[in-house]
Amino acid sequence: MADIEYPEVDSNRERVQKVLARLGYGSRRSCEEMLLAGRVEVNGSLAVLGDRMDPETDTLSIDGIQVSTQTGLVYYLLNKPSGVVVTSNDPQGRKSVLEFVPKEPRVFSVGRLDLLTEGLLIMTNDGEFAHTLTHPSMGVEKEYLVHLDGVLKRSELASLRRGVDLDDGPTYPAKVRLLSPSLVKITIHEGRNRQVRRMMDAVGHRVIRLVRTRIGPITDDRLAPGEYRSLFQSELIAVRESTKLEVAVSRAKRRARKE
Ligand code: URA
Repeated sequence: MADIEYPEVDSNRERVQKVLARLGYGSRRSCEEMLLAGRVEVNGSLAVLGDRMDPETDTLSIDGIQVSTQTGLVYYLLNKPSGVVVTSNDPQGRKSVLEFVPKEPRVFSVGRLDLLTEGLLIMTNDGEFAHTLTHPSMGVEKEYLVHLDGVLKRSELASLRRGVDLDDGPTYPAKVRLLSPSLVKITIHEGRNRQVRRMMDAVGHRVIRLVRTRIGPITDDRLAPGEYRSLFQSELIAVRESTKLEVAVSRAKRRARKE
């Protein structure tokens, strides 16, 4: 009698909904719903409930966007103090944000804050997540508190809201709220170098203190300067949800332009 051939059991292959839930895309149930809704692809092919994948070698996409399946990913939220650089090797040997978070695994900052800017900074070893947050097409909102050297006039407030001319082009309209005569809350979704300082400069003001208070849906007013915490699963999901919305909007705009 011929030997029975048993299929090889590949222990690396996990159910797709289990991989999604482990990566923080929701509960097992809601990840099953993502599969049922046809939102998930493995290696470019639509995945159905019950499909398995190898997170080490297979690619995973949600709503057409490839997501990382690596384990060991970490996501920190640091309240950066003033006078600290975001780079790892500063020629002047100044203190780096890397000194405030665990050394292993090695992380990098998502986007940048100037030496003198304080406030929220995300640090991670997830390149795709960082790319999603910083890519201009995603339009992730960043909110800053700006202390100015003088009183902001109505006309200056209106200019900031409309957009001002900078040497690398005009800025998009910004949300600007005057909290007191010299204290402004500004929300922008571009990530240009020293953008807020240059915008204030363009309307004739010097920034005395600049604090980032929100990145997309992420905020925390209880984190003291120099303190960090891990991002909550709900925050990771919220970032992914908000950027997904942006992808849908920018695709719709591209389609409308072509028509
Ligand atoms: N805008 C600035 O001018 N500086 C920052 O660090 C961040 C935004």
